[in-house]
Amino acid sequence: MAKLSVNICGIEFRNPVMPAAGPPVRNGAMAKAAAAGGAGGIVTKTVSVVPADVPRPCMAEVKGGFLNAELWSELPKEQWLEHEYQEAQETGLPLIIGIGYTADQIKEMSRLVKPFADALELSTHYVGNDISPITGAVKAAKDGADVPVFVKLSPHNNIQEIALAVEESGADGLVMINSFGPCLGIDIETGRLYMGSKDGYGWLSGSAIRPLALRCVFDAARAVKIPIFGVGGISSGRDAAEMLMAGASAVQICTSAIIKGPGVYGKIAAQLNDFLDSHGYDAVDDIKGLAVKKFAEHEFRTSPKVPVVDEELCRLCSICETSCPYQAISRTNVLKIDEKECFGCGLCVSRCPQRALTISV
Ligand SMILES: Cc1cc2nc3c(=O)[nH]c(=O)nc-3n(C[C@H](O)[C@H](O)[C@H](O)COP(=O)(O)O)c2cc1C
Repeated sequence: MAKLSVNICGIEFRNPVMPAAGPPVRNGAMAKAAAAGGAGGIVTKTVSVVPADVPRPCMAEVKGGFLNAELWSELPKEQWLEHEYQEAQETGLPLIIGIGYTADQIKEMSRLVKPFADALELSTHYVGNDISPITGAVKAAKDGADVPVFVKLSPHNNIQEIALAVEESGADGLVMINSFGPCLGIDIETGRLYMGSKDGYGWLSGSAIRPLALRCVFDAARAVKIPIFGVGGISSGRDAAEMLMAGASAVQICTSAIIKGPGVYGKIAAQLNDFLDSHGYDAVDDIKGLAVKKFAEHEFRTSPKVPVVDEELCRLCSICETSCPYQAISRTNVLKIDEKECFGCGLCVSRCPQRALTISV
């Protein structure tokens, strides 16, 4: 059994898998369900000074992902302060309290939630190229509550620049990424848009954004020293391992918990443990940032390398042959790759369910 616990900014989490702000932590009862479902910590839905007027409908599953038009919590802060946070605290797990949005609102909220919070998570919808509002928000949170302050970022091209600026502003950690958008979904049976928001737009989450989240975490991890919570499309222990290898210290999950229920946290933590055990790793920290370290050996090349077939593993299933864009793969009683035709694109390696194909580097 690998060591799953992680310590982030002095906070001990029993495992690195926890909810992301959203419906699966929309109140204290759901926080308790997340704890019972095996979460390593609790992150609560973003709360602001006034309840959100959430458009309906505000959620839809789409192919490969999920659209939402939710805002922050529709519950008034008084309800959170009088009831929900206390219930969330009863889980006994570290409690990261999500608050938003402007510096003034964060100043007010951070003082109010201080008695319950092990850490704060600031949601930022306004990180354009001007990151100055975040600097003010971090300072306001620090003034209001003497706990670690984590800043949640949306995906951006210049994420390194933003992450660095957030670190310099005094943030203790990053949470990335929020859902991506705006996006659109249409119910083709009716021609109507799925989302009831004013413009009909929604924000994409789930598997579709995992490569985007990984890139953001990977980029930020190479720019900052503060810890990162990786969020976006995680639905299995292998996904979590990938995010940790990109440089995250822990992971958060929203869409998968909506779709599959609060048991996902424990399931993913158990799968992560199996992955670590089966690959000879003793602890979560052993894989943290592995891809960042290995990137030092990364080779940029334009000449092809032909995949090597492990005949013992190959089941001749034809998946690689069917999808080879260069028709370089054929089967008789063994798999053959035509070295002249092979472009070295690597697709077959990624598609082989047996992991029978490798490209040597
Ligand atoms: C329905 C819904 C509501 C969300 N509400 C919040 C929120 O209140 N605050 C926040 O920072 N992020 C919110 N998010 C974003 C998630 O926390 C998360 O960053 C994003 O969905 C990517 O993770 P996932 O692919 O695991 O869902 C919400 C996402 C969804 C799908």
